[in-house]
Amino acid sequence: MTQAASMWHRTHTLGELNKSHAGQDVILTGWINRHRDHGQFIFLDLRDRYGITQAVVDPEKAPAAYEIARSLRAEFVVAIKGKVNLRPEGMINKNMVTGEVDILVSDIRILNKCDVLPFTVHDESEASETLRLKYRYLDLRRPTLKSNMISRSKFVREMRRALDDRGFMDIETPFLYKSTPEGAREFLVPSRIHTGHFYALPQSPQLFKQVLMISGFDRYYQIVKCFRDEDLRADRQPEFTQVDIEMSFVDEALVTNTLEAVTKQTVTKFYDGNVKLPEKFPRHTYAQVMEDYGVDKPDMRFDLKLKNITDLAAQTKFTIFKDAVGSGGIVNCIVVPGASEKFSRKDLDELSELAKQHGGKGLAWIKKAAGAGVASWSGPIAKFFTDENCAAIEERANIKPNDLILFGAGDYDSTKAMLGAVRNNLGAKLKLYDPKELCFLWVTEFPLLEKDKESNRWLARHHPFTSPRPDDLHLMKSDPGKVRASAYDLVLNGYEIAGGSIRIHDPDVQKLLFETIGLTEQEAQSKFGFLLDALKFGAPPHGGMAFGVDRMVMCLTGAEAIRDVIAFPKTQKGTCLMTGAPSLVSNNQLKDLHVKVDGVIEGAEHL
Ligand code: AMO
Ligand code: AMP
Repeated sequence: MTQAASMWHRTHTLGELNKSHAGQDVILTGWINRHRDHGQFIFLDLRDRYGITQAVVDPEKAPAAYEIARSLRAEFVVAIKGKVNLRPEGMINKNMVTGEVDILVSDIRILNKCDVLPFTVHDESEASETLRLKYRYLDLRRPTLKSNMISRSKFVREMRRALDDRGFMDIETPFLYKSTPEGAREFLVPSRIHTGHFYALPQSPQLFKQVLMISGFDRYYQIVKCFRDEDLRADRQPEFTQVDIEMSFVDEALVTNTLEAVTKQTVTKFYDGNVKLPEKFPRHTYAQVMEDYGVDKPDMRFDLKLKNITDLAAQTKFTIFKDAVGSGGIVNCIVVPGASEKFSRKDLDELSELAKQHGGKGLAWIKKAAGAGVASWSGPIAKFFTDENCAAIEERANIKPNDLILFGAGDYDSTKAMLGAVRNNLGAKLKLYDPKELCFLWVTEFPLLEKDKESNRWLARHHPFTSPRPDDLHLMKSDPGKVRASAYDLVLNGYEIAGGSIRIHDPDVQKLLFETIGLTEQEAQSKFGFLLDALKFGAPPHGGMAFGVDRMVMCLTGAEAIRDVIAFPKTQKGTCLMTGAPSLVSNNQLKDLHVKVDGVIEGAEHL
């Protein structure tokens, strides 16, 4: 019935018609969003990607169409013929682009029917995420996901345009790549032809883009999938999209200034100009943001800085503080203005739990009342403070009556990390910011190396081609932990939305770095030999950055999770509920690949 009939080609989309089209004959196609039988007439709301248009079927004027209209159900696919009619004054719907008109239907064709729906499509009434992921095609028809997809497409288009405007060239790089274990775990692909050998899916096109600089393509970009087999979180997916960028003949200032201009152009166009961005994005060093916010991607839409009271805490009688300071650690506090009555015991216990989840040992608290000295302090640890202790801490941390003070004590890293997490939680809970505000900042001067706790060896924090800052090179042998990298992240509202660095192009510096991280020449050669070879053939100074498209679109659309801006995302367990990936494969497939499987996890089919 449906396939054989010749197609009625639509004359307009469903987001297009207005009073200027009144009187025209049109053909429209789409899904039945809603239909209402008013006895006298049947009203049909037709929906497509562009919008919704109302059609009216009058049994007097179109009896055959009326019979068909009576059999329609939600999400049937139809084509209608009719005339554009100006709605009477009282019937105009100002909330709809097409709200000035409706279509008087003369003929209807059902192009396809729809089964009973697992959840409603025309509105966003509650449906579990499991169900929505299984029927992703239906969820993508619903207003939020549809709008997120349209926004994502617009973002990518504007980003591409901003890069094209500046002479960047789009070049593709391979997905079947060589394993170079570094950073996250890789996804491996067995080779059929080369028994026992594997490709790896790239974690990013990092080394290829550096090779492209050596080939002379001085401004490269690519909108590209990256694959990382790491533990998933709300802002992480096993495959995600980068706008990957590399430039030649640059230093850190030139790369960050160029990409700041690209970001501003893209974001301004994304919001059709309805956005306020600062003249320059602020820049903060890694050391400073860790000190003030406890994380390397601070949400600066609100204040609540971490205050260092280590020296003052050492003078109190609270053993936890004294022990922390005695073993070289720190004591910091967060002052939450006017919040002393807003937090119950239960709230404070929950915050303490959060602190523990982020590596802290606990979270001590004090509520400050009017007056001076310890008499104005309440809470389980107040008894450990003298009037002098209180006065000194109040002055340092600018504490006022009715403030809540939260304390963390321990080694630098874990104390900062736990208070950083507590700060983020307070920001959201107390609604300390306008969710629509955009707060961009650069974080610079990251440490080049970090100590691996297990092996006690130095490791590259980013990748081993990240250049040290030239003024720190002399520390490479004497104090490697102090060497700062020419590396930078772009942060938006508490998310790292981009990261990059200037690369090493001097073979002597490269050799020095490999020595520091204990990589022998042989090991380096077998891992990245092709890049090391290429660097010998006239490598220009170069550097770049990669934006995380999913994270950026999540921030710009205000979506809650990265999954909401990806058409076909994976669950937190890395599965696709629509297709059923990952799945078992046949023994023949495994035989072809010379792969033997050593056991299957229980319930694998139901992942
Ligand atoms: P990096 O590893 O910092 O740098 O990645 C760049 C940006 O990609 C995003 N991102 C992710 N998004 C979603 N899910 C993930 N699992 C995920 N991992 C990273 C982040 C991040 O800022 N080759 C270098 C770039 C360079 O040095 O030029 C790189 O990949 O927004
Ligand atoms: P306790 O003496 O163990 O009962 O702890 C007293 C208070 O100090 C409790 O509120 C704990 O949560 C808190 N606390 C414990 N360890 C730390 C720490 N390292 N930093 C800050 N507060 C802590």
